Amino acid sequence: MADGERSFRPEEADAAVYRQALGKFATGVTVVTCDSALGPLGMTANSFTSISLDPALVLWSPARASKRCAAFEAAEHFAIHVLAQSQKEYCQQFANEGDNFDGVRWNQNDDGVPLIENCLARFQCKQHAIHVGGDHLIIVGKVITASVRDGNPLVFSKGEFGQFTRME
Ligand SMILES: Cc1cc2nc3c(=O)[nH]c(=O)nc-3n(C[C@H](O)[C@H](O)[C@H](O)COP(=O)(O)O)c2cc1C
Repeated sequence: MADGERSFRPEEADAAVYRQALGKFATGVTVVTCDSALGPLGMTANSFTSISLDPALVLWSPARASKRCAAFEAAEHFAIHVLAQSQKEYCQQFANEGDNFDGVRWNQNDDGVPLIENCLARFQCKQHAIHVGGDHLIIVGKVITASVRDGNPLVFSKGEFGQFTRME
């Protein structure tokens, strides 16, 4: 075994150690939004990934224990916003509360989905499939409209936020 390497079974390990291993995988950060019976809803998520290019399918995974999970499960339409490095406050805001859009510039699309302005990329989706993945749901969306703008992404790794730096 390489120096400093530790191997363990996730179900037997301290959850923090398993999370530490998962956190080595750097991701971007998104805010997923939908309309709900209680009004516009948002949730910070780094579980976003592209699945298929043709057709254009993406996924994200809300925890089934989340208070917001049922609303996203019920939503026929939703939008995934890729945050810029300058939008860390949106990340924190929508991690803390789902219904607090204070200070956020947003509008609604024809399906009532909240669209946050000035994100790096946005994927407006129609729900395509939902799968149970243990204690999370896997929500698959068919991308109806994608948008993109210039800028650098907010990066999340090892439980911390950072910026993308190109290697020389
Ligand atoms: C960077 C980051 C990424 C996150 N990614 C996810 C995610 O993919 N799925 C998820 O269920 N929660 C994720 N969360 C947690 C939610 O944003 C939110 O804090 C959680 O849903 C709060 O619980 P509640 O929905 O019951 O209020 C993430 C939080 C942060 C800060």
